[in-house]
Amino acid sequence: MVMTSAEIRQKFLDFFASKGHHIVPSAPIVVKNDPTLLFTNAGMNQFKDYFLGNKPAPFKRIADTQKCLRVSGKHNDLEEVGVDTYHHTMFEMLGNWSFGDYFKEEAIDWSWELLTDGYKIPKDRLYATVFEGDPAEKLPASVIALKKWKEYLPDEQIVFGSKKDNFWEMGETGPCGPCSEIHVDCRTDEERALLPGHLLVNKDHPQVIEIWNNVFIQFNRLKDGSLVPLASTNVDTGMGFERLVRVLQGKQSNYDTDIFTGTIEATEKITRKKYHNTDAKEDVAFRVIADHIRAIAFTIADGQLPSNTGAGYVIRRILRRAVRYYYSYLNYSDPLIYQLLPVIAEQFRTVFPELIQQLDFISKVVKEEEDAFLRTLGKGLKKIDELFETTPAGGTLKGSSVFELYDTYGFPLDLTRLIAQERGFTVDEAGFNTEMQAQKDRSRAATQLDTEDWIWLAKDQSLPCSFIGYDLLETDASLLRYRKVKAKGKTSWQLVLDRTPFYAESGGQVGDTGWISFGDVNAVVTDTKKENDLIIHIIEELPESVTENVKAWVDAGRRKKIAVHHSATHLLHAALRKVLGTHVAQKGSMVGPGYLRFDFSHFAKMTDEEIADVEAMVNAEIRKNIPVVVRVLPKEEALALGAMALFGEKYGDMVRVVTIDPDYSVELCGGTHVGATGELGYFKITSEAATAAGVRRIEAVSGLAFESYLKEKEDLISEFRSKLKNPPDVLKALQNLQEENERLKKHADQLEARMLVGIRNELLQKDEIINGVTFIGDIVNVSNAEALRKLCNDLKNNLHDYVAVLCTNIGGKPSVAIGIADTVVQARQLDAGKMIKEIVAPLIKGGGGGQKNLATAGGQDISRLQEVIAEIRATLEK
Ligand code: SER
Repeated sequence: MVMTSAEIRQKFLDFFASKGHHIVPSAPIVVKNDPTLLFTNAGMNQFKDYFLGNKPAPFKRIADTQKCLRVSGKHNDLEEVGVDTYHHTMFEMLGNWSFGDYFKEEAIDWSWELLTDGYKIPKDRLYATVFEGDPAEKLPASVIALKKWKEYLPDEQIVFGSKKDNFWEMGETGPCGPCSEIHVDCRTDEERALLPGHLLVNKDHPQVIEIWNNVFIQFNRLKDGSLVPLASTNVDTGMGFERLVRVLQGKQSNYDTDIFTGTIEATEKITRKKYHNTDAKEDVAFRVIADHIRAIAFTIADGQLPSNTGAGYVIRRILRRAVRYYYSYLNYSDPLIYQLLPVIAEQFRTVFPELIQQLDFISKVVKEEEDAFLRTLGKGLKKIDELFETTPAGGTLKGSSVFELYDTYGFPLDLTRLIAQERGFTVDEAGFNTEMQAQKDRSRAATQLDTEDWIWLAKDQSLPCSFIGYDLLETDASLLRYRKVKAKGKTSWQLVLDRTPFYAESGGQVGDTGWISFGDVNAVVTDTKKENDLIIHIIEELPESVTENVKAWVDAGRRKKIAVHHSATHLLHAALRKVLGTHVAQKGSMVGPGYLRFDFSHFAKMTDEEIADVEAMVNAEIRKNIPVVVRVLPKEEALALGAMALFGEKYGDMVRVVTIDPDYSVELCGGTHVGATGELGYFKITSEAATAAGVRRIEAVSGLAFESYLKEKEDLISEFRSKLKNPPDVLKALQNLQEENERLKKHADQLEARMLVGIRNELLQKDEIINGVTFIGDIVNVSNAEALRKLCNDLKNNLHDYVAVLCTNIGGKPSVAIGIADTVVQARQLDAGKMIKEIVAPLIKGGGGGQKNLATAGGQDISRLQEVIAEIRATLEK
């Protein structure tokens, strides 16, 4: 009986549970609080601190399935995805971990037991790789792993590998160690008889693939390239779930497993194309879509919206790659991905419920992205057509044009290349790369963060760093370590203390500022940030003598303002759910001293009434002066209390629950709060707007920030009053002013009408006859374009066969009107609208249009008006 993918996943978790492992949930796929990583790219990411000893592991043995994304940084598979049948952007990694507990022998024993006994993979199809050592790094060969594998496998099924394949590193720096991979040979028996499988291990053969990597984490790679042994020896294993399922379901391709067939079938139905599992472009498109939709859906569910920078841009690119494939190869030009989302949301209902719970929201975001790109895709295709017209047949598209297509229309290079090939053109790729590099250099120079290695003062490098700022705002502390950081040419220093009252930016709440003193020298802390679980204090200048003993104290006034806004955010969140509905979910927030910002899912602009209701509800809770109760509870208990858990937040097993009236607001939250709601004073929403598809943004103020807001409004009113000369009844005064303005305007109109009569009479004196038509061309002095139009119309009543071109200067900008008698339009085939577009607009650097008998233009260049008149006259002379 073939196991389903769900059964295969469960069997893995059950097996390791039976070996004493604690099963934990996947961490979010989007990484917060780690500047070296945008997305989770390996199961071990969430455990980095346990390996480095920054934090004790809560369990010595852990197992899970982790959502991973490999599309940026050290591990990047994007180009392969869809072209082959076994690489993915988003994939699940099954893993088991030992933190200073069991090591190589048990890890290998158990992987062998699970694969051969549990999953019944034939033993003669399995191959193990073993690290051969690396003299340059002074790393020995893995003797223990070799000895262990020899118990299970004959020599020809064990392959030695170099550092490239058998030494796993997380990134440029961080935990790493030798590894032993397990590969499966899925070829037919005939093929296997012709060529032994060990020759194909790690050779990119589509049927001889790695499924499991057992990494023995023993070192930390430092920035200077050196390897430092870790205090403990650890195990980190990762098994590619999609590949395992493919092997166990006996398929040739990951895409033929029940993980992907649902999406592929739905795509077939919608596009009316058929998937044949070949190398044809059409089939690549099916695979690209089936793969990319998962990356897109999971990252959005974890809180990362598509955008123009960083992680958001990675998602946007993946989405565009998918759109481009269905547009070009499945001939489908409407948004497609969003229609497929229900299929995968249903498929992952139990293991990753975040998809089904946020389906409406994710669909809305994806559809909007697809719509937007499909619009530029069309424009880009037009643009590329223009390029073909201006490039000699068979020529090369300029690098700068190809870059413009990429940069402005979102066209990846390979799309441009493909279209060019179809039309018999080539693409200047070197030129494109030069432009691309130049842009990268520009943005790197703008954002590059150059971080030096830590300088340690503490002898014990495993000392934890604890946050005591919920209760205290100042403390004596020890400086554990510090380092220099350069960004945008500016140097700053990062400091880690053993205990700190400084809140590090997280959960939307900004970092604390304050001071750290070394003896009698005070350093100003300008911000506090988190890096995994380290709390990093940022100071601009390092005192000359750095001492281990310091005093640290937070800017208490600023902290208070922040706490007010954080409690206000909770009250607001609860009020929004009560007024708008429980579909409201937090999508982002910023809690600062000056104001709060809260992004939430909701599909319509809030009405004035809804805004007023939300404000009134929050203010009622403030007046009740409800105590804000903070408790630390096991996560399950907190959720049972009805606490709102936020997707994409990573929580340990014990969570902090902030309650403001158990019936009103219960939230999981690590932030700092006021003691009771009365401290907020008053709450006011200052703006409500859209920020992305299906996401609204509220900005609001409370406490002292509200006082400043109120003061500003009052100042505005007094200034307004004083401008009106402080009348007793300001509204009456305003009304008088408006009425007076109306009267004056009417008067001015009458004067202008009289003036126009005068100008018209003068114009009628200046007529000349050209080729039997009366021509009037002049620069006149009027105050607006409408007056020019009126003059032209007026001439109609006084002349028969005429052409008039009238110009004027309106505040330094040219305005032109052309009027032509209907008889002349017909007899001479003249068109005022065309003349304006073709002759006038280019001369005055502007635009305009109109009818055949009357048209107008406005522009930028006032110096060409005589030429305008001469050119129009010339058309009559022809
Ligand atoms: N960290 C290793 C990998 O990602 C094993 O989990 O391959």
